[in-house]
This record gives sequence, structure tokens and C-alpha cells, in this order.
Amino acid sequence: MALIKKFRIKNFKNKIPLAKVEKISLSYDKRQILDNINFNLNPGEIVGLLGPNGAGKSTLFHIIIGLIKPNFGKIIIENTDATEYPIYHRAHKFKIGYVPQYGGFFHDLSLIENLKAVGEILIKDERERFSKIHNLISKFALDNVQEIKAKFLSGGQKRKLVICMALLSEPKILLCDEIFAALDVLTIQMLKEIIVNLQKEKPEMCIIICEHQARELLSIVDRALILSNCKIIAEGSPRSVLKDEQAKSQYFGNFF
Ligand SMILES: Nc1ncnc2c1ncn2[C@@H]1O[C@H](COP(=O)(O)OP(=O)(O)O)[C@@H](O)[C@H]1O
Ligand SMILES: [Mg+2]
Repeated sequence: MALIKKFRIKNFKNKIPLAKVEKISLSYDKRQILDNINFNLNPGEIVGLLGPNGAGKSTLFHIIIGLIKPNFGKIIIENTDATEYPIYHRAHKFKIGYVPQYGGFFHDLSLIENLKAVGEILIKDERERFSKIHNLISKFALDNVQEIKAKFLSGGQKRKLVICMALLSEPKILLCDEIFAALDVLTIQMLKEIIVNLQKEKPEMCIIICEHQARELLSIVDRALILSNCKIIAEGSPRSVLKDEQAKSQYFGNFF
């Protein structure tokens, strides 16, 4: 399948995981959303979390970043049990960056004001802050729109802005929730290139992206996890999950 990228980084298994999701379960009232979810996040890899709408992908991200507490299980980050750590503590101590499914920016501030607002909290040195913000603007080709209020940016520019805001903290783990949703083909292609370039530039960072559209995500990930009916039903390289019988019957269907 020509869509699937060639593996650039081979030996994730030999690396010490940045984070471990251990036996995570969550119910809302009596409705089970996640049941015994286990996986590792390793340095340098791009992981895809795939699953139909409502499968619990955003919920799982919220549990990893500390927005929701699971009913059972642990989030281990850098060998520390972080399950009880609040969201700001995880973001700061463990350098976790998060691109939410919706929003994530100040609507009435311009693009550059959004970056400055976050930069002023994260980077004390003014010169360093200025340089990081301008490097990101130029890397993401946002120079022409930096004075525009965020609410007037296009869908792709908004997603790029929120990724830039997350990158300002130099995260070790970057969680991106449905970054390709509702974008045109060329914008999706551009974002995919940005993600793959980030992996090359920051070889120790782990990027995990969740998405319900398998086609876009499988073309850039090193490892995919398929979430369906509260469980991870398949995990492995894009090639192997595409061949998995359970993943085919519960998620991919006959489309691929
Ligand atoms: N605060 C909540 N209270 C009750 N049910 C919720 C809440 N948040 C999410 N859910 C339910 O949990 C399930 C998983 O939601 P979500 O994680 O947003 O799915 P996904 O991101 O995979 O589309 C959905 O069925 C949703 O309706
Ligand atoms: Mg979601």
C-alpha cells in the first residue's frame, strides 16, 4: 500500500517508554467507555489512535493529560505514577503538549498574540521567547497571517496555530486530537508533512494522534492502535493492523 510511509526509525522496542497507559478503565454512570486499556508511548515514534466516533479516543487523551480521572488503572510517565497529578503539573513536570479536538486558542487575539500569551508563561527569557515564536511562525508558514485574529483564520491555520502553541513548551509527548478533521486535501497533506518533519527534528519526542479517518493517519504513523467497543482490538504497524481480522470486522470494513 503506497500510502504507508517507509519506516525511518526501527527500534522503538529497545527504548525506555516515555509513558505507560496501564489497565485504564472508565465508565460514565453505568456506561463503560474504556475497558482495560494498555499501551506504551516510546521516544521518537508517531502513534495513531484510531477508532470510530464515540469510541473514547478524546476521553483516553483526557485521562493521559490529567483532565479526567480513570475509575481504574494508572498513567505512568517517566517511571513515575502520574495518575494523581493534576493537568498543569503533568504538562509542566513531564512536558506534555496537547492539541485539543476543538479550539485551543484565544479567539479575539491575533495569531502572534496567542503565541506570545502562551510564550510569556512558558519562556522567561524575552529574547529566547521572541526567537522561538518567530521560528515557529516561519516553520509553519504563518508569516502572512500573524496579525489576523485567530477566529478569522482558516481551519488549517487554526490547527497550525494550536500545534505551535503546544510546541512552545518543547513537549516530550505531543497529543493531537483529530488534527485532520474538516480540512481540505492539500491542508491535510501539509499538516502530515509538518508532523513527519517534527519527528525528524525532534527524535526524542513521541507524537500520538487520534483520528477516526484511518486513511490519513495510517500513512504517517509508525504504530497504530485500534480502539473499538471500549478495548484496543489491534496494535502494530499500519500494515499489520490493516490485516487484522478483528480490526477489519469492527473498524476498517471492506474499504481498505
Ligand atoms: N462527560 C461525559 N459524560 C457522559 N458521557 C460522555 C462524557 N464525555 C464523553 N462521553 C461519552 O463517551 C464516549 C466517548 O467519547 P469521546 O471520547 O469523545 O469519543 P471519540 O473522541 O472517540 O469520538 C461517547 O459515547 C460520549 O458520548
Ligand atoms: Mg474525540
